[in-house]
Amino acid sequence: MKVLLSLLILCAYINAITFRTCLNNPSVTVASIETNPKTIIRGNELTVSVNGNSGVEITRGKVIASASMYSVEIIRQEEQLCDHTTCPIRRGDFSVSQTIDIPVDAFPGFYTLKFQLYNETNVEISCTTFKVQIKSS
Ligand SMILES: *[C@@H]1O[C@H](CO)[C@@H](O)[C@H](O)[C@H]1NC(C)=O
Repeated sequence: MKVLLSLLILCAYINAITFRTCLNNPSVTVASIETNPKTIIRGNELTVSVNGNSGVEITRGKVIASASMYSVEIIRQEEQLCDHTTCPIRRGDFSVSQTIDIPVDAFPGFYTLKFQLYNETNVEISCTTFKVQIKSS
């Protein structure tokens, strides 16, 4: 009973997301994604945390988070990878998180969020998409 209760509490707090990869043979594979807060409200911030595994060492690069609705890109935020994780990224597990500003005028509804990593020579090394719902309040 105690174990079950702990599991339920754990599930309530960890907001793991179903995602798909959008790159063949990525050098960085994504193991899990979490978003915070659980309810995404326009005009607020959304933090996306990605746990991944890198097959290569990365000294620097870019992270791009974008969100689109019906293939129309509404949000695009490009930042330096090393501002969002510890660099260099060694081979193995690592995590990166990015905070996205959701525009106050974003239309409420379901968006496809894309999270991409680029290496120093601007080659895409990871691409993941997942759905998020933006609410008006
Ligand atoms: C970036 O990734 C490409 C493809 O994996 C690789 O050929 C290139 O050497 C990488 N650049 C750096 C600086 O590691």
